Amino acid sequence: MVSALILAAGAGTRMKSDKPKVAHEVLGKPLVRWVIDAAHDAGIKDIISVLGYQSEKVAPLVEDDTQIVIQESQLGTGDAVNAARDAMTENGVIKPGSLIVLSGDCPLITPETIVELVKKQQETQAAVVVLTMQLENPFGYGRIVRTQGDSVARIVEQKDCSAEEAAITECNSGFYCFDAPALFDALTCVSNDNAQGEYYLTDVLEICRNNGRDVLALTTNDAQEAMGVNSRVQLSEAARVMQKRINYRHMANGVTMWDPTQVWIGADVEIDQDVELLPQVILMGKTHVGSHSIIGPNTRLTDTSVGAGCTIDETVAIEAVLENDVTCGPRAYLRQGTHLCQGAKVGTHVEIKKSIIGAGSKVPHLSYIGDTTMGSGVNIGAGSITCNYDGFSKHPTIIGDNVFVGSDTMMVAPVTLGSGSIVGAGSVITCDVAEDALALERNEQKEIAGWASRHRKKLSIQNK
Ligand code: UD1
Ligand code: CA
Repeated sequence: MVSALILAAGAGTRMKSDKPKVAHEVLGKPLVRWVIDAAHDAGIKDIISVLGYQSEKVAPLVEDDTQIVIQESQLGTGDAVNAARDAMTENGVIKPGSLIVLSGDCPLITPETIVELVKKQQETQAAVVVLTMQLENPFGYGRIVRTQGDSVARIVEQKDCSAEEAAITECNSGFYCFDAPALFDALTCVSNDNAQGEYYLTDVLEICRNNGRDVLALTTNDAQEAMGVNSRVQLSEAARVMQKRINYRHMANGVTMWDPTQVWIGADVEIDQDVELLPQVILMGKTHVGSHSIIGPNTRLTDTSVGAGCTIDETVAIEAVLENDVTCGPRAYLRQGTHLCQGAKVGTHVEIKKSIIGAGSKVPHLSYIGDTTMGSGVNIGAGSITCNYDGFSKHPTIIGDNVFVGSDTMMVAPVTLGSGSIVGAGSVITCDVAEDALALERNEQKEIAGWASRHRKKLSIQNK
């Protein structure tokens, strides 16, 4: 049995924020979610989150798939683990098995490393295996005092270090795999007699050793994995590392990026082979991009599905569906419920909301289309819009197949344009238009012969 405990009770004062640190996001995902997802990906199902500071803001992020325990006051990492004692107890004793302890502010931990930690603890039956790393500048971290080989004598916190201990460069990552009963047994002996007056989880190691149990270390080659986020600068550094990891994975799968430092992709985005991503592209949420599509520059897609062979230039799309061979932008805004069918084109300065644009239909310039069902082969002239809102409610517009709408047409909803109909430019359409009809709503044109030249002559005399 392997369980995981995520420590996420701290305030994170150095973030200078009105929300708890672990709720801050890296590539659109809260820090604590990265850690929980890594534990899940390592195959661990039984996960406990220790919350405290502003737990009401963190709980919604973790309650779906972890059990929440509350640490009432933040008395240290040892106290935080102890808050899970009841949750770890079954029939009056601590459940046998391994317990992984992870920091909720270390989003770069990988499932592979978690698996390795568990494996080593289970194979050796050690009381604990601690993940350590060598750092050129170890300041601030707990130092690993070794006995010999794999064995650890104890961990000394920065503020409790002697000069000699401060020179040690092997550091505590804050990730451990414990034998659960040994951990909770040792925790009863931890005191707060130290420089910070806190109950240190790290003291458990020396206690276990004194109890005659093995205390081992696993050293990672990739210190980045253990990088904690304590400030906004470190938040941006973690995002850079994550960005690189994700982008390199997609490039390895056959995605071209002109400049991977200028492309930001969330963890759950799927991209097919031979997609090309231009600079300043942000793909978030459950976005999917089909093969041979070209995305960007300056494009943000959230929870959007893009088919194959699309060209999406300077576009913002949220919860939109684009079928194959769609062309979009530059400067298009596709809001929730936009569905662009095969081969549709949405052009420059166009906004679409909750509308179906039929196969091969075109909305090329300066339009707003909302609450509309549009058939195939439609052409919407420049500057035409649906007037879907009367100040109280939204109304639908229905446009049949092969309709041609002249430029600067106002379609006042609810209204239907029958298939094959043509609307003259500049019309305000307030009544339904029959199939194959011409609808024209405009005043007769006035013309006064020679007026313009008489006007110019008059002005030139006045200006002399
Ligand atoms: C801790 C380790 C240190 C290690 C470092 C790695 C201890 C005593 N020290 O130090 O050896 O090198 O991590 O990053 O464990 N938390 C709670 N409740 C508390 C206190 C902390 O839930 O009462 C949580 C925090 O939210 C955070 C994690 O525990 O997620 C680590 O706490 P933090 O105060 O950042 O420990 P460090 O001083 O960094
Ligand atoms: Ca920390």
